[in-house]
Formats: sequence, structure tokens, C-alpha cells
Amino acid sequence: TDSDLLISKGRIDRIASSIEASDGMEIIDADGAWLLPGMIDDQVHFREPGLTHKGGIRSESRAAVAGGITSFMEMPNTIPATVTLDALEDKYAVAAEKSLANYAFYLGATNDNLDVIRSLQPGTAAGIKIFMGASTGSMLVDNEETLAGIFRDAPALITTHCERTPVIERNLAAAVEKYGREIPVTEHPNIRSAEACYQSTVIAIELARQYQAPLHVLHLTTAREMELFEPGPMQGKLVTGEVCVHFLHFSSDDYPRLGNNIKCNPAIKTAADRAGLMAALKQGRLDIIATDHAPHTREEKAVSDYLKAPSGLPLVQDALLSVLELYHDGELSMEDIVRLTAHNPAIRYKVKDRGFLREGQWADLVIVDTAQETAATRQRVLSQCGWSPFEGETFRSRIVST
Ligand code: DOR
Repeated sequence: TDSDLLISKGRIDRIASSIEASDGMEIIDADGAWLLPGMIDDQVHFREPGLTHKGGIRSESRAAVAGGITSFMEMPNTIPATVTLDALEDKYAVAAEKSLANYAFYLGATNDNLDVIRSLQPGTAAGIKIFMGASTGSMLVDNEETLAGIFRDAPALITTHCERTPVIERNLAAAVEKYGREIPVTEHPNIRSAEACYQSTVIAIELARQYQAPLHVLHLTTAREMELFEPGPMQGKLVTGEVCVHFLHFSSDDYPRLGNNIKCNPAIKTAADRAGLMAALKQGRLDIIATDHAPHTREEKAVSDYLKAPSGLPLVQDALLSVLELYHDGELSMEDIVRLTAHNPAIRYKVKDRGFLREGQWADLVIVDTAQETAATRQRVLSQCGWSPFEGETFRSRIVST
């Protein structure tokens, strides 16, 4: 709909079909463009502290804001890992100084910090992050008692990275047997396989049901897992599901062209999996779209050895633009996009007064023009790593202003 929106003291003061301009008001003419609540990205890796050669809270929050993301939730696999309350507090203190967007941080789980998890004050972390599969940083939680304890006692939303490490190790051993050290990156989705994802997601959901623990399963990648998630509106669900922008955009057909640059964990799977994720989004089996922004330097990604190339893609600056491609394709409505990128993460994570265009909420707003294009050039990349997996593509929208 066509409306005026008045911002006062950082909040949305009034929304009406026409608001009279008065003295001292700054007028932003967004005629013909969309005004959306800023994206709330529930999964990013901003690399500070300890990995600041890859990125930092200032550089990555800047890229996020340029891309229409106004709030982010950041993952614990930094150095040191965010597995103590002190480390968690330190991140909040750094972000207070450096972040250009709203922020929250996860407390990471390990095989031996259940006491720390129990002592977390509700509302002081985005959630608890469990790596139920090993990935960047060694934060694997594979002790069954500990896992059960987390699901039984966690005072916050549990979020999981679901990939079954023993399955991956078996697949990897078979690939090494076949290729030696020359494993082609096209094997990545066979090594970090759909089966590994499925088995782990089953375990996480069983634990959530058993202990009635709210669970949000991060970065789902396979069509088969979708049967594990309930269709319909998010409200009232114990278990929610997330998909990330790259899993809706790329498929295993892109490995020959993009190689290690699209290597991530879980792996980008087949075009059929991507279609399955898209169908699940429409059925409401997936509730949130996020990024899993995970920058690595160009040099780190450029190694020819598949085994040595780090996993993860820089995505925050292009995330909303890439989701808007689904609007242009007629796959998602603008209402769907706002629900999946703003309303639902705000509700799921109990973000106060953000995520909606509503009087009284914070004016976290993004103006998007779907009639102007954006060329994804390397020059425009604001992430410190200085590259984007979308380079060479043209998005059919533009982020005018955040
Ligand atoms: O691809 C990934 N990169 N997956 C993860 O789980 C971690 C992330 C990173 O931190 O690099």
C-alpha cells in the first residue's frame, strides 16, 4: 500500500495514507520503492575476537547495513570461543563500541560447559548454539549425555548445526581412498552428505520433543529433511527451521564454476534439494531466511586443495538482494519475504520492538527499489574479505537506503 511513515526519536511515530509535513521534518521521498522492516539475520560469523584477519564487527556490520540488515545474531566460533559468560559479555562490550547494527550473541555449547549454559540469564544471549557436526573451529558437541543435558536445562532457545560427523568421516575416507589428496570440490555435497544432515536433524528434533525444548534448526540444506518440519504458520511451533540465502540461490551445479568459494558447511546440495527447500518455504516448513555469513579471505579460499579450503561464504551485503530475486521470479511475495526475514526472526528470538512496520517500533527500515538493478561487482564489496560469491551476477533490485 501507499503510505507515509513518520519517524520520531528513532521510532515509528505514525503510519498514515498522508502525513502533513511540518517545520524541521526531513522528508525522504521513496515514491515507487518498497519500505520494509530491516532484515534480522539470526546467523552470522563476524570473526571478532581472534579471527579479525577475516572480518570484524565494524566491517561486517557495515556490509550488513548496506545490504538492508539492521540486526544480527552472531555465532560463538571465534577465538576464544564464546563458551563462557565472560567471553559473551566481552562481545557485547565490543559491539557496543563498534557495531553499526543491532546485535546479539550466542553462547556456544561444548562437551563440558553445561554449568555455564545453566547459569545463563534468559534474555542475555541470542540463544545457545550447538555444533552437532564439526565445522570451522572445534566446537563439536557429541557427548550424548551433554546433549541431553543441554536440551533438558537450556534457559534459552537452542539452535543447532545438524550434520552427523561419523557419517561425514566415513564419506571422507571413501573419497580419500578414491582420489587421494586430489579430491574435487564437486565431492563436497557427497562428503558432507544429505544423509549426514538427515540423521543429525532427526536426533536434534527428537531431543527437543523429549524435553519440550524450543529448537531452531539452522541452515537446512536438503529436501529430505523437510518432512521433519511441520507446515503452517510459525506461531506455536516447538521446532522451527531456517534456510540460508545461498541454499536458495546456488546448487551443486555451481561447484565447477565457483569451486571452493561456495564450499560451506552444511554443503550446498543438488538443484532438487534447492527445489525442495523452496517448496518447504511455501508450505511454512521453513520459518526463517538467514545468511550464515562466514567470511574467509580470498587467499584462504584460493588454495587448490579441497581439504584445506575453509568453509563459508560472505553474504550479508547481498542477502536481501538475493532473496528479492525470488520475488522477481514469482516464487515469494513481498509479504513472504518480510515475514521470513523480519517478522519471524523477531518473534522467534523475542526481539523487542523490531521486525515490523508498526507504530511504536524502532524505525529499523530499508528502502528497496525493485525497478533498479545492482551489479554484484567486487568493487562494491564492503566485507573485509573483499569478495562475494555473487560476483558477475546482476540483481534485479537495489537497496536504496537503510
Ligand atoms: O561454512 C561454514 N562456515 N559453516 C560453519 O558451520 C561455520 C562457518 C565458519 O565459521 O566459517
